Amino acid sequence: MGDQKAQLTIGGANKDYPVLSGSVGPDVIDIRKLYAETGAFTYDPGFTSTASCESALTYIDGDAGILLHRGYPIDQLAEKSSFMEVAYLLINGELPTGDELDKFSNTITRHTMLHEQLATFYRGFRRDAHPMAIMCGVVGALSAFYHDSTDIADPLQRMIAIHRLIAKMPTIAAMAYKYSVGQPFVYPNNDLSYTANFLRMTFSVPAEEYVVDPIIVDAMDKIFILHADHEQNASTSTVRLAGSSGANPFACIAAGIACLWGPAHGGANEAALNMLREIGTVEKIPEYIARAKNKDDPFRLMGFGHRVYKNFDPRAKVMQKTAADVLNKLGVTDPIFDVARELEQIALKDDYFIEKKLYPNVDFYSGVILSAIGFPTSMFTVLFALARTVGWVAQWNEMISDPAQKIGRPRQLYVGPTQRDYLPVGDR
Ligand code: CMC
Repeated sequence: MGDQKAQLTIGGANKDYPVLSGSVGPDVIDIRKLYAETGAFTYDPGFTSTASCESALTYIDGDAGILLHRGYPIDQLAEKSSFMEVAYLLINGELPTGDELDKFSNTITRHTMLHEQLATFYRGFRRDAHPMAIMCGVVGALSAFYHDSTDIADPLQRMIAIHRLIAKMPTIAAMAYKYSVGQPFVYPNNDLSYTANFLRMTFSVPAEEYVVDPIIVDAMDKIFILHADHEQNASTSTVRLAGSSGANPFACIAAGIACLWGPAHGGANEAALNMLREIGTVEKIPEYIARAKNKDDPFRLMGFGHRVYKNFDPRAKVMQKTAADVLNKLGVTDPIFDVARELEQIALKDDYFIEKKLYPNVDFYSGVILSAIGFPTSMFTVLFALARTVGWVAQWNEMISDPAQKIGRPRQLYVGPTQRDYLPVGDR
C-alpha cells in the first residue's frame, strides 16, 4: 500500500481513505470504514466502479484488450497450452511441470464417473427441458451424493470438490444432451483426454463408435481455454457471494450456472447464433443493424459489446480465427459464418457502434464453431458452464482460503415508504 489517500468531504468533515495499488491496473479506494466513520454508503448498481474482492487469478485491461491468467496472455494460452494446463494454472497459480500435469490430468480423469443414482435423477426432467435447467439441478444435487467433500474449512475436501466438479462437468453436460435427444448415456473412457472424452460421451451411440477428430478436439480445447475464467463477472461474483455464506461448493457452482444462463452473460452465444440464423443472408444485415440502433426496439446485436472491453475482446480474435480454421479443415461452408463476418465489418464501420465502443465479444463466433461441430444451440451455454467451472472453483477456493473473507452483504439506497401503521383490511 502506498501513502496516497483519497479525501471525501461529507457533512462538512474531511475524511481520508487509503488508496490501494494492485500489481497492475487501476488503484482502489479502500472505503471499508466509510459507514462506521460517516454513516453513509456508496451507491454503485451494477458494480461499475466497485472492486468486490482481492484476486490474483485474472487481470483484464478492457481498453487495451488484454486478458491475463496468472500473468499469461490469453492468446498464448489458447495457442500453446491445453485446457487441463490452464485449469492447473488457475487453481494452483503456476504452470505445471510435466509430472504435475500428468498427475493432475490423471486425477481429473479418475473422477469423471457419476454416482449411478444420478442417472435416475435425470429421468425426473422432461425430455424437452433446456440442458441448462438440467445442469443447474444436477450440479446442485451433487452435494447430496458427495458428502465427503462439502466441509469447506478442510483444504483437502475443498480440493477434492474442485477435482470432482471439473471432472464430472463434461459427464453431466454430455448426459444432459443425451437425455434431451433420447439416446442412452455414454460412460467416460479413461483412455481419452478431457476434451476428447467429452466429445465421445456427447456424440457416440452404442450402434456406432464416434471417431474423435483431432481438429475438433483442438478447437474445443481452445474454446474451453477462452471461457475458463474472466475475473469478477456476474456468474463468478454469484459463486463468490453464495460461497461467502459457507454454502457447499456444489451449491455455489449451481448458483453460478443459473446466473450464467442469462442472455446478457453466457446465454449470449446461443442468442448470437439464433440471431445470425434469423438474419440468414448478408442482404438483411442493414435491417438488423437499424433495429439494434433504434432505442424503441429492445433488439441488441447479440455477441456485441462488453462491460469491460471497450476496444476489442482478445478472446473474440482467437475465436474468429478458430472458426475459420475449423470450417476450413472440416470443409464446412456455413452461410452463417459469412453473415457473421459481414455483420462484424458493417458494425465496426458504423458510428453508433464506434461511439459506444461496441465490438464482437467471445460469444460472437463461438456459436459458428459449435454449430459446425454438431452441437445444438441449446448446448452452447452448457459448454460455457463446463469451461467456466474451472474459473468458478479457482475463485471460490481463493476466497475461502483468504483469512479476511466475510459474508458478502451489500447495502442499499432505500426509496420505499417510511414507517406507517398497519390498517385492518376493512379500514383501507
Ligand atoms: N447492440 C446494440 N446496442 C448495444 C449493445 C448491443 N449488443 N450493447 C450495448 N449497446 C448500447 C446500449 O443500448 C447502451 O446505449 P445507450 O448508452 O444509448 O443507452 C450502450 O451501448 C451501453 O450499453 P450498456 O447495456 O449500458 O452496457 P453494459 O456494460 O451494461 O452491458 C453487455 C454490456 C454485454 C450486457 C451489452 O453490451 C449487451 O447486452 N450485449 C449483448 C449481449 C452479449 O453479447 N453478451 C455477452 C457478453 S461477453 C460473454 C459474457 O460475459 O458472458
